Amino acid sequence: MLLEAPVYKELFGAVEIYETLKVIKLDTQTKEVGSLTVRNIPREDIYRILEEIAIVVPMKNEKLQLVDGVLKAIPHQCPIIIVSNSKREGPNLFKQEVDLVKHFYNLTRSKIIMIHQKDTGLAKAFQEAGYTEILDKNGNVRDGKGEGMVIGLLLAKAIGAKYVGFVDADNYIPGSVNEYVKDYAAGFLMSESEYSMVRLSWRHKPKVSTKGLYFKKWGRVSEITNRYMNALFGVATGFETNIIATGNAGEHAMSMKLAEIMPFSTGYSIEPFELVYLFETFGLWEKGKAYPDAYDQGIEIFQIETLNPHLHEDKGSEHVAEMILSSLGVIYHSKLASESLRKQILDDLRLHGLLGENEEPPKPRVMLPIEGVDVRKWMETLENNAETLLKFEV
Ligand code: GDD
Ligand code: MG
Repeated sequence: MLLEAPVYKELFGAVEIYETLKVIKLDTQTKEVGSLTVRNIPREDIYRILEEIAIVVPMKNEKLQLVDGVLKAIPHQCPIIIVSNSKREGPNLFKQEVDLVKHFYNLTRSKIIMIHQKDTGLAKAFQEAGYTEILDKNGNVRDGKGEGMVIGLLLAKAIGAKYVGFVDADNYIPGSVNEYVKDYAAGFLMSESEYSMVRLSWRHKPKVSTKGLYFKKWGRVSEITNRYMNALFGVATGFETNIIATGNAGEHAMSMKLAEIMPFSTGYSIEPFELVYLFETFGLWEKGKAYPDAYDQGIEIFQIETLNPHLHEDKGSEHVAEMILSSLGVIYHSKLASESLRKQILDDLRLHGLLGENEEPPKPRVMLPIEGVDVRKWMETLENNAETLLKFEV
């Protein structure tokens, strides 16, 4: 793969964010390109690390045709981890997904793990591990994409994955999913730190339908989040920046070493929260030396603009409103936010009718880093109690 070479970056303490890198050529072999502004990551190197990247696919009531395309597009060497929160009655969509996955395994012999988010065995495993932030007041695992991702992360750790990448299940272009995973690999191969993250952005994000016109006037969710995320970092460092282009990147990946020391927030606030947390925690050298190794090595964040467009399901304007509120809630409640930035967020949300006069955007609910969970025991409890756990080995 040829990528723009990572030249420009912003440093926030130990956090290094690189400017968005464009994919210039999707597939190359070892031959040197001889250009200093272009980085060659040969196909052989990418294929060498694919088996170390577990791909987590969170899904909730998605069209089976889309799920099928996504599974078929994930490179064969990558273990696949499916965390489904789909309906189990009237009709039983989860059963249809299980049938699809079984059929897919019979055809491909891919390494796959699958579980339902509401499996009571899962709740029991979390309960016994003392990881109760993921449970609701009745002791069940909460709904939410972020919750599904944390489950996927633990399963990835349990199978010894060195990296974990996330891919949404509602993608209309299977070929783009194949690229995303290779983009993740390229980012990890460029990283000099063991603590690394790769976040994807798109030049083209066509819409399936014209719903959500209202929000178009204000901009896409990601534009709004990025604007305020850049403003937050500008306020905190005293230097305005434009570098953040992936505040909401659902398609992203992390080294396990980084993922296991990160707390995660719930639902759709998870991706912006990752950046805010890293900046709050590792943005200043002088305090919070909780993870000295991460401070010493630095945390590298790569942003890659994919060659493929991103075409996914349109979930409607209510869903978009929820995403804007929870994303801006993360920034609003950050301890780095200034009073004037908070006021700007409130004014903007009220102006667009997303917030009442005396309301504030929601505060992110946080789940602790999974490093505190004894994964071997967690997995044992899960295997002994789960009703929906499927494990296909090669
Ligand atoms: N396991 C699980 N549990 N999966 C869920 C849940 C849940 O409660 N809710 C949603 N998902 C799955 C969806 O089925 C889909 O595969 C993925 O999570 C993303 O959800 P969408 O509803 O499609 O979100 P989106 O397309 O509006 O937003 C995506 O892109 C944003 C910007 O890149 C998400 O990935 C966001 O997190 C991201 O910020
Ligand atoms: Mg989607």
